[in-house]
Amino acid sequence: MIARRLRDDARILWQFARGQSATGDHAARLQAFYAPQAARYDEFRERLLHGRAELLDRLAPAAGAHLVELGAGTGRNVAYLATRPDIRIDLVDLCPALAAVARARVARMPNVCVHEADATTWQPVAPVDHVLMSYALTMMPDWRAVVDNAVRMLRPGGTLAVVDFYVSASRPAAHRQRHHWLARQGWRGWFGHDGVCLDPAHLDWLEQRTVPLYLSERMGPVPYLPGLRAPYYLFIGRTPRQD
Ligand SMILES: C[S@@+](CC[C@H](N)C(=O)[O-])C[C@H]1O[C@@H](n2cnc3c(N)ncnc32)[C@H](O)[C@@H]1O
Repeated sequence: MIARRLRDDARILWQFARGQSATGDHAARLQAFYAPQAARYDEFRERLLHGRAELLDRLAPAAGAHLVELGAGTGRNVAYLATRPDIRIDLVDLCPALAAVARARVARMPNVCVHEADATTWQPVAPVDHVLMSYALTMMPDWRAVVDNAVRMLRPGGTLAVVDFYVSASRPAAHRQRHHWLARQGWRGWFGHDGVCLDPAHLDWLEQRTVPLYLSERMGPVPYLPGLRAPYYLFIGRTPRQD
């Protein structure tokens, strides 16, 4: 059991060490990076992607709500909502290998649909109650377009919930944390090698494009980097109401 886990981790770490390919378009780069690790994706990310269950707890979708996850990967977050067949869920991801894992996961969940599509342009047929982005914004080069697209698909008063890695600006707004220069450079470089872009502008844009309801800035452990903790945040904002 332990040997299998170490072997699986070694394969993921090898993929991390190789980094994301610099050739091909965005979809081709995602496929090249994720296809070799798709089957083992969830187990490793469980120890790296913190705060996902908590964000969904805070979102607390009402019965009958419609939720879209952009950059849903293997659909791991749907497992946190397994006891909620009363909500409708659309999972959107551009990577065929991860979308295939998500499709297999939700095969017996009639309330969940998987769409292999680009989060910058995909739209539901009618406005939705919640949009979730979980460790996805940092992997989307056109992230402003994705946030704007998310806001467009929300009903008035609908909520956008985001959990992701980040680094602070050198001079952040007064209500936000400031990370040491070394942490900012170190984490940007470490994640950037794998196409994960830690940009302080993400949170600024989320706060500008929504009415912020909740923000928590935290540090979480990283597998195989003992003693080091990477900064991440939980954010919930809503669209303006029309009343
Ligand atoms: C780190 S994974 C997070 C997956 C999942 N949300 C989770 O919490 O496990 C980031 C995901 O964003 C997807 N992605 C990146 N750019 C995208 C885009 N433009 N449109 C849709 N999905 C995209 C990737 O394919 C990948 O599945």
